[in-house]
Amino acid sequence: MNTIFFIGQIIGIVPISAFVFFLVAKLVSATCRSSSHVQDGYGSAVLITGCDSGFGHQLARCLDHKGFVVFAGCLCPEGAGAQSLARQSSSNLKILKLDVTSDEDVLQAKKMVQENLPVKGLWAVVNNAGISEWAEIEWSSMEDFQHVININLFGSVRTSTAFLPLVRAAKGRMVYMSSIFAFFNCLNMGAYSVSKRGLEAFADCLRVEMASFGVKVSIVQPGNFGQATNILKMKTGLDIWEKLDDERKQIFNRQYIELANEYFMSTCMSGFKDADMVIDAMLHAVTSAQPKSRYLLASATDKFFFQLFPFLPTFLTDSVFSLSSMYAKRKEMLYTK
Ligand SMILES: NC(=O)c1ccc[n+]([C@@H]2O[C@H](COP(=O)([O-])OP(=O)(O)OC[C@H]3O[C@@H](n4cnc5c(N)ncnc54)[C@H](OP(=O)(O)O)[C@@H]3O)[C@@H](O)[C@H]2O)c1
Repeated sequence: MNTIFFIGQIIGIVPISAFVFFLVAKLVSATCRSSSHVQDGYGSAVLITGCDSGFGHQLARCLDHKGFVVFAGCLCPEGAGAQSLARQSSSNLKILKLDVTSDEDVLQAKKMVQENLPVKGLWAVVNNAGISEWAEIEWSSMEDFQHVININLFGSVRTSTAFLPLVRAAKGRMVYMSSIFAFFNCLNMGAYSVSKRGLEAFADCLRVEMASFGVKVSIVQPGNFGQATNILKMKTGLDIWEKLDDERKQIFNRQYIELANEYFMSTCMSGFKDADMVIDAMLHAVTSAQPKSRYLLASATDKFFFQLFPFLPTFLTDSVFSLSSMYAKRKEMLYTK
């Protein structure tokens, strides 16, 4: 009897202790995070890719303001975005020509960074450059996939491997701009999801390898900020239609293509209108003593859903789409003339 009572007590104590331990650990980590903005910019440099517009452009201005030497990688240094960034920033911000798909650009950028390093060296690299492509997998060619992956994934791999020795010397930060589509599987986002899921795999492996060198690696996962940046490239139903061969034209008829285009554009238009939440997370990843390994940036409801999503069985996660009205319309419209 005593043994049963004893076992009963242990069984009761274990989950309660685990729960209390979990709460205390959460509290301690939250306290550490809120009180630990350590890295002021003075004497340290940060390299950011994709600063012509959007998140990269805004982050470059913020870090310049905080006293960092900012190497702002731009696809078009003579373009309006790069020029306005230069005009609005201090002389500590240097514009670099940096197409992340070009070995030559990365090599030249590294040379320029090495020649202009401040005393504390290169503190962080923010791998932000990226494009977004939307299309069903069957509407995409190999070149379409390669184009997205070359920029979003291999561009970051190329930049990271070139600049890692400098960041390691400073025991600094590597930051990666991913997306909710790295884990959230959705109609029309095949190529983009492949690129961002690959990017997260790279960043996760790097975090493990870099831990022993004191380099911290963070992944930023924004939701829908299509209206806050230049990521959304408008296309018409005709643009998509003209790329399809006869067989696909029969399957995905013109009316459906038009509907899909309208639906996609209106969904993107419903997102956040400013980028503050993302810029705050990027700043935290660069400057905090306790950067997070992941920053999920979405509304509170979406966040709850996205956090649950990886733990749900596939039949449930797939049904999010198969039960949606758009999916039902798609099923109805396919093959019809
Ligand atoms: N906005 C969102 O809703 C959202 C959500 C999740 C993730 N993201 C990610 O956030 C990152 C920044 O995007 P954003 O929203 O700020 O869009 P954005 O305004 O279009 O910024 C992306 C930047 O990358 C540049 N770029 C494109 N190809 C490049 C290349 N080959 N080499 C170097 N730079 C290149 C673009 O230059 P050009 O302007 O000259 O093309 C642009 O300056 C991307 O990785 C994107 O996937 C965005």
